[in-house]
Amino acid sequence: MVEHNFLHVFLNTILAKREYVNMKNKMKKTITILPGDGIGKEVTQWGAAVLQTIGQVFDHEFTFQEAAIGHHAIEQYNNPLPDETIKACQEADAILLGAVGHPIYDNNPSLKVRPEQGLLKLRKTLGLYTNLRPIYIFDELQAASSLKAEVLKDVDILFFRELTSGIYFGAPRERSADRERAIDTLVYTKMEVERIARKAFKAAETRRGILHSIDKANVLESSRLWRETVQEVSKDFPKVKLNHMYVDNAAMQLIRDPRQFDVILTGNMFGDILTDEASQIVGSLGMLPSASVGDQVGLYEPIHGSAPDIAGKNIANPLATILSVALMLDIAFDLKKESQTVFDAVNTVLKNGFRTYDIADATTSENQILGTNEMGEQVIALIKETTAVPI
Ligand code: IPM
Ligand code: MG
Repeated sequence: MVEHNFLHVFLNTILAKREYVNMKNKMKKTITILPGDGIGKEVTQWGAAVLQTIGQVFDHEFTFQEAAIGHHAIEQYNNPLPDETIKACQEADAILLGAVGHPIYDNNPSLKVRPEQGLLKLRKTLGLYTNLRPIYIFDELQAASSLKAEVLKDVDILFFRELTSGIYFGAPRERSADRERAIDTLVYTKMEVERIARKAFKAAETRRGILHSIDKANVLESSRLWRETVQEVSKDFPKVKLNHMYVDNAAMQLIRDPRQFDVILTGNMFGDILTDEASQIVGSLGMLPSASVGDQVGLYEPIHGSAPDIAGKNIANPLATILSVALMLDIAFDLKKESQTVFDAVNTVLKNGFRTYDIADATTSENQILGTNEMGEQVIALIKETTAVPI
């Protein structure tokens, strides 16, 4: 069995205490699915199918409800996050999101309401201040990365991106009447830095004990507060080696020598940028899952976007969403074995040589390149196969 590197991490220590789960009891959970835009529908369909299969083979009862977000919701309700969607999320035990975004909003200032506002409001409303993005290398995919194999081997990074503050949310945010001046505001409070820093340090304690805090403290006052606060929190975690790094240097170090990193703690916008960059260590955005957690229900989503250029063509990679489901099973439901089963199935599909277009390389033969649906089916078949009771 493959060690479940990206999930072995943090869970019981950093997340809210959960009720004791008797393994013999059927677990009943409601999952709200937010397909969103572009490839969101295709990939969440397979995330839900994997959950359904896990429910069947491990005898849990997963109930699904779907709600609208993003462009899809603007079209239907003229609102990227309708109240019904918020309610469906608050009532759920976990949320699975596809992606939001549509090209009609780019370069069109007359469209004031954007799909992304739905996701940002949802993160804020649910208090999802910690965004976990594991950067984990599947051995099989080394050729899909543009970095050399020796730079990649055993990379295992866990990003803690602050998700409900910073320049994404600060006020004022406005445009002058003559439209020639624009303001965004970068604000952090000590409390906001401290609460995510604690989670990151706790995770680092259970991993390799190294934490890099990324900021721009040579220029930004908010980064100086960030750095001071992280330093203060570090006193409670003497076993963790804390390094501060400027974001420009971090962007360079990530591709120069990604193995130096274990846990990376950073703010909202730096985290957005650095995690897209880090996806290329793995080879494709199509492989990276994420979990956004706070004090209430958590949201699980692939880190890729809505990819409108490939939507509806059955070529999107569903594995980031399926791996997000693995994170959900572990973090939200504390179902370790079930989570591991999903992770192992993904790993085996890759070992068996199957690829979607984004992760195919020169050695992939034509008949090993799978569409979204065929990749989803492969994962499900493997889950069934590996959990079948021998007769
Ligand atoms: C992400 C995305 C979002 C972000 C967009 C869609 C608002 O890029 O989750 O990384 O910038 O946070
Ligand atoms: Mg992003």
